[in-house]
Amino acid sequence: MGLLAGKICLVSGAGQGLGRAVSHEMADEGAHVMLLERNAETVATVAAEVEAKGGSVTPYPLDVTDYDRYREIVADVIAKHGRIDVLVNNAAINPPTRTILDDTLEDWRRTIAINLEAVYMGSKLVAPHMVKQEWGRIIHVASIQGFASSGEAGAYNAAKGGIIAYTQSMAVELGRYNILVNAVAPGFMVTPMSIVNGVDETTTPDFIEWYVRRRKIPLGRSGLPEDVSGTVVFLASDYCRYMTGQLLVVDGGLMSTF
Ligand SMILES: NC(=O)c1ccc[n+]([C@@H]2O[C@H](COP(=O)([O-])OP(=O)(O)OC[C@H]3O[C@@H](n4cnc5c(N)ncnc54)[C@H](O)[C@@H]3O)[C@@H](O)[C@H]2O)c1
Repeated sequence: MGLLAGKICLVSGAGQGLGRAVSHEMADEGAHVMLLERNAETVATVAAEVEAKGGSVTPYPLDVTDYDRYREIVADVIAKHGRIDVLVNNAAINPPTRTILDDTLEDWRRTIAINLEAVYMGSKLVAPHMVKQEWGRIIHVASIQGFASSGEAGAYNAAKGGIIAYTQSMAVELGRYNILVNAVAPGFMVTPMSIVNGVDETTTPDFIEWYVRRRKIPLGRSGLPEDVSGTVVFLASDYCRYMTGQLLVVDGGLMSTF
C-alpha cells in the first residue's frame, strides 16, 4: 500500500515536465490518476508509461480553459469513481519574454486565462464533490516568480502571485469541509518549460556561472521534476493533515540568498 492508496487524483498538464513526474509518483503511491492534458500524444505516452509499471491512470485530453469539457470530465470521473480526492493545478504556459512596453493585452489575457483563471475553474468544478465527501486536497503549482521577478514575464508573474494569494483565500473558505489547499513554488526546474525563446535557460554560460558555480542556488544545480513531485505527493497525503493555505518553496535554496 502506498501513501495515496485508492485516492482519485486529477493532475493538469500531465503530459510532460512536473505534471508527468507528479502523475508517475502518485500512481507509484497507489493512486488512480486522471491525466488532464491538452496534448493528446504526450498524455497517451505518459498513460502508457504508468500502465507499463502496473499503475492506474486514465488519460483525458483537455485544454483546461475549455470549461464545458472540463465539467464533462469531472462528471465522468464522479460517475466512474464516485469521488475526487486530489486536484493538482499544474498546467501553465511560459510565453516568450516581453516587457510591459512590448507585450499585448491578448498575450496578457491568454497567460492569465491558462495560468490563473483555469486554476480557479478547475478548483470550482471539483470543490463541491470534496465538500460532499468532507475530504479533499487541492494543490496549486505556483512559482518563485509569484513573489520575485527577473522581469519580462509580467502576466506569468501576476498569475503565480495570484495563485499564492488565492491559495490562502481557498484555504479559509474550504477548511470547514476538511479540504486542504496548499501550493508549491518551484525555482528553476529542468523541463521543456525552461526552454525560453529557443534557449534552455538552465544551461547558458551565465546561468551556470551565477546560479551553479557561484552557488546563487545553494544546492548548486537546477531542480528536476522529481525534486518537486515528492512535495506535491506529501501535500496530497495523510502526512499533510493540519496544514492549509501554505506555500512550500522548492528551489534548492535560491530564495534564501541575496
Ligand atoms: N520549469 C520551471 O522552471 C518552473 C519553475 C517554476 C514553476 N513552474 C511551474 O510548474 C508547472 C509545470 O511546469 P513544467 O516546467 O512542467 O512545464 P511544461 O511546459 O514542461 O509542462 C506544462 C504542461 O502543461 C500543459 N498545458 C499547457 N497549457 C495547457 C492547457 N491550456 N490545458 C492543458 N494542458 C496545458 C502542456 O501541454 C505541458 O504538458 C507550471 O505551473 C509552471 O508554471 C515551472
